[in-house]
Parts: sequence; C-alpha cells; structure tokens
Amino acid sequence: SVSPSEFFKSQIRTVRGWPKAGVNFRDVTTLFHNPQAFRMAIDVFASDCERRPVDIIAAVDARGFALGGALAYHLGKPFVLVRKKGKLPYKTISESYQLEYGTAAVEIHMDACKPDDRVLIVDDLIATGGTLLAAAKLFRELQGNVIGVAALIDLVELGGSQKLRAAGLNVHALCE
Ligand code: PRP
Ligand code: HPA
Repeated sequence: SVSPSEFFKSQIRTVRGWPKAGVNFRDVTTLFHNPQAFRMAIDVFASDCERRPVDIIAAVDARGFALGGALAYHLGKPFVLVRKKGKLPYKTISESYQLEYGTAAVEIHMDACKPDDRVLIVDDLIATGGTLLAAAKLFRELQGNVIGVAALIDLVELGGSQKLRAAGLNVHALCE
C-alpha cells in the first residue's frame, strides 16, 4: 500500500536538465494524463473545501488552470484566471514578483472578487512561492479573504511554502 503522497509523486515525471542544465523539472503532464490520478488530486482539493468553505476558485497561468478549472467545475464555484501580464482584456490590477533573472507580473480583472469573498488559489507547484504570493496580494487588494493556496507539489527546500505561511496563507500541497 502506498500513501497518497507517494502515489501523487509516482505520477509526476522528472525531466533532468530542463529548461537548463542542473534543473530537475517536475512535469505534471503525466499526472494529468492519468484520469485516476487527476481525479484523485481534484477530489483531495475538493474535500479540503468541504471542511473550509470557499466562494471563489482562482488558478495561476498556465498549468494551474487545468487544476482550478476542474475543481471549480466539481464544486460549482466561480472560477478566476490569474494571468501573466498583458493577457486579460478588461480592467486589471497587477502585482510583480522577482524571478531568478528579472521580474514578472500577474494580473486579475478588477471585478474578479467582492470584499470578503473566500478565495482559494490553485497552482501546480510551489518553488520560491513568488507567483502564489503575488496572486494572493491581488485578491487582498480587492479585499478578498484568501483562505489558502493548494498545489500538487511543494519544493520545500526552496522555502516558498514557508514564505506563504508567513504571509498568513494556509498551504496544502499533495506531495513534496
Ligand atoms: C511555474 C509554476 C508556478 C511557478 C512556481 O510557472 O507553474 O506557477 O512557476 O514558481 P515560484 O513558486 O518560484 O513562483 P511558470 O512561471 O514556469 O509559468 P508557466 O506555467 O506559464 O510555464
Ligand atoms: N516544474 C514546474 N514549474 C516549476 C518548476 C518545476 O520543476 N520549478 C519552478 N517552476
């Protein structure tokens, strides 16, 4: 018998040396490809939401969309796209964050949530936590109540989940 965490890990492919030498890229396309694994991941996130009710499911561009879309559909909740800068058509708010080299920014529409809406933000993976922290700041700027973040993978040694918890966010990752 394997633990849920060991099962999820077994479904994630590691691509050595991508996108550059020295990086072991955790590739979730293999988990998405297995309907049983994909459904199990969504069901675990959904059971969290039954314990801690949410009003809005948000997800991060691009792999987060696959997870967030399925979860929002399953729960029957509004779904919000957190997009990379310059992709959303209506009025937006932006938040930039540091990359290894330079900066990036994420955006949401200015009417993506109402004050006190309980928001869960979903992504595939937490590395430095910069992306999810910027996403959380966007909803907080709209007076949303970001109850937490959910991811398939937490790269614990990079300190991102610690940083997110220090910012008052609940962090749930299916494996490390
Ligand atoms: C990856 C990943 C997360 C983020 C994690 O996305 O899907 O969104 O990086 O890194 P962080 O915790 O250090 O912020 P990426 O920026 O590669 O974008 P993509 O999904 O568009 O490829
Ligand atoms: N996989 C996917 N996204 C990432 C990774 C990874 O290994 N590292 C930083 N962002």
